[in-house]
Amino acid sequence: MASFSSFSKPISKTSDFLANFTDCLPNSHVVPRNLSLPGLGFRCFQTGFVERPVRNIWVVRNSNQNEALVDSTQILDVPVFSGFEAIERLRTFQETYKSKQLFLAMYSSIFGGITTDPAAMVIPMDDHMVHRGHGVFDTAAIMDGYLYELDQHLDRFLRSATMAKINIPFDRESIRRILIKTVSVSKCRKGSLRYWLSAGPGDFQLSPSGCHRPALYAIVIQDQSQSSQKGIKVVTSSIPIKTPQFAVMKSVNYLPNVLSKMEAEENGGYAAIWLDSDGFIAEGPNMNVAFVTKEKELLMPHFDKILSGCTARRVLVLAECLVREGTLQGIRVGNLTLEEGKNADEMMLIGSGVLVRSVVQWDEQVFGDGKEGPVTQALLNLIVEDMKSGPDSVRVPVPY
Ligand SMILES: Cc1ncc(COP(=O)(O)O)c(C=O)c1O
Repeated sequence: MASFSSFSKPISKTSDFLANFTDCLPNSHVVPRNLSLPGLGFRCFQTGFVERPVRNIWVVRNSNQNEALVDSTQILDVPVFSGFEAIERLRTFQETYKSKQLFLAMYSSIFGGITTDPAAMVIPMDDHMVHRGHGVFDTAAIMDGYLYELDQHLDRFLRSATMAKINIPFDRESIRRILIKTVSVSKCRKGSLRYWLSAGPGDFQLSPSGCHRPALYAIVIQDQSQSSQKGIKVVTSSIPIKTPQFAVMKSVNYLPNVLSKMEAEENGGYAAIWLDSDGFIAEGPNMNVAFVTKEKELLMPHFDKILSGCTARRVLVLAECLVREGTLQGIRVGNLTLEEGKNADEMMLIGSGVLVRSVVQWDEQVFGDGKEGPVTQALLNLIVEDMKSGPDSVRVPVPY
C-alpha cells in the first residue's frame, strides 16, 4: 500500500502522482488504464467512484517484470479533529481493524503507567525510535501465567541498549517490575510480552542529544491464531545479512529481516536463511537454525555474528538429556558450511515465536523423507515442557 504521505510533494493530480510514484520506484513504470501503452503490459484499475476518497489500485511492473499492486486512496479533503475526536477515531479504527491479536495492556514511561485502552497505546512521533530507528526491543512468552525466560531476555535487552548507546531510564529491577506488572494488569495467561527502550522523544534531529530522556514501552499481546507444528520450507536469503555489529543486537532496524521474510513468502517459503560473509550458515530473520547430522549430532551456528537466541541457548541445554539417553551422539556449536547443513538429516528453526519448527525443505534440498524430523519433535516437546514446568530460573510467576 502506498499512501500519499510516502511521497515528498503534496499531490493533487494523477499526473503528479505518477511523477512522484515513478520517482520512488527505480526502473518502474505505472500508467492508468486509459493511458495504456500496448506491449508494455501496464494496467490501472479504478475501484471506486465515490466523491471522496477515491480508491485506485495500480498494477506496476518493474524492470524485473515483478508485478505489485499499489493501493492508493485519493484524499480530496482532510478533516481536522480535536484531541478527543482523534482518540475516538483511533478507537473506531482499532475496533473495525480485524486482527487475530488483542492488545491487552501497554506501559509507557511517557505517561508513566499502564493503560488497557488500545486507543491510547501510542508512542510519540518525535521518538528517536520512530524517525531514526534508535531503539532496541525484546520479548518474552507468557505461558500458564508465567513469563518464560524473562531474565534471559531482559539481559539481552539491556546488552542491546548498551550497544545502541541508549541509557536506561530505570534500573534493571524497576524495568523487570514494570514488565511483570503490565502482564498482571493485562490478566493474560497465554500470550506474549514485547518491550522497547528508545532514546526517547526529542527534536527530530539525527543526534539524540535533543531527546529529553530515554523511553520504555511494553505491550501484552494475546494471539488467537492457531500454532502449527507442520514442517515448512525455507529458502536462502538474497537480502544481505546485517554486519555482526548490528546482527548481535536486537535493534528496531528490521528492514533486512522483513525483506528477507517477504522474499521467502514470495517463493513459497516460511523464512529465508542468511549465510554470513564467509558463506557459513547464520540465522533466519527472527529465529536461529540447527541441524541433526546423519551421525545424530546436533549442530548450531555459533552466536558471534548473529543474535544470541534465548530459545536456541535453552535448546542447547535441554538437548543434553537427548545425548544422555542416546538419541543424540553429541552437540556442536561452530561454523557450519552450506554443504553440512543441506546434507543433514534434519533442519529446524528455533526462536520465541516458532519455538522449535521442523524444516522439511531448504531451496531444492528435501531433508530425510520430507517429513518432520524425530529429534526436532523431541526438542519441541522438551521446550514446551520447560515452558510449562521448567525450573524457577526460566519461569517467573505473574502475580495476578
Ligand atoms: C534475528 C533473530 N535471530 C534469532 C532470534 C531468536 O531469538 P529468541 O529465541 O531469543 O527469540 C530472533 C528473535 O526474534 C531474531 O530476531
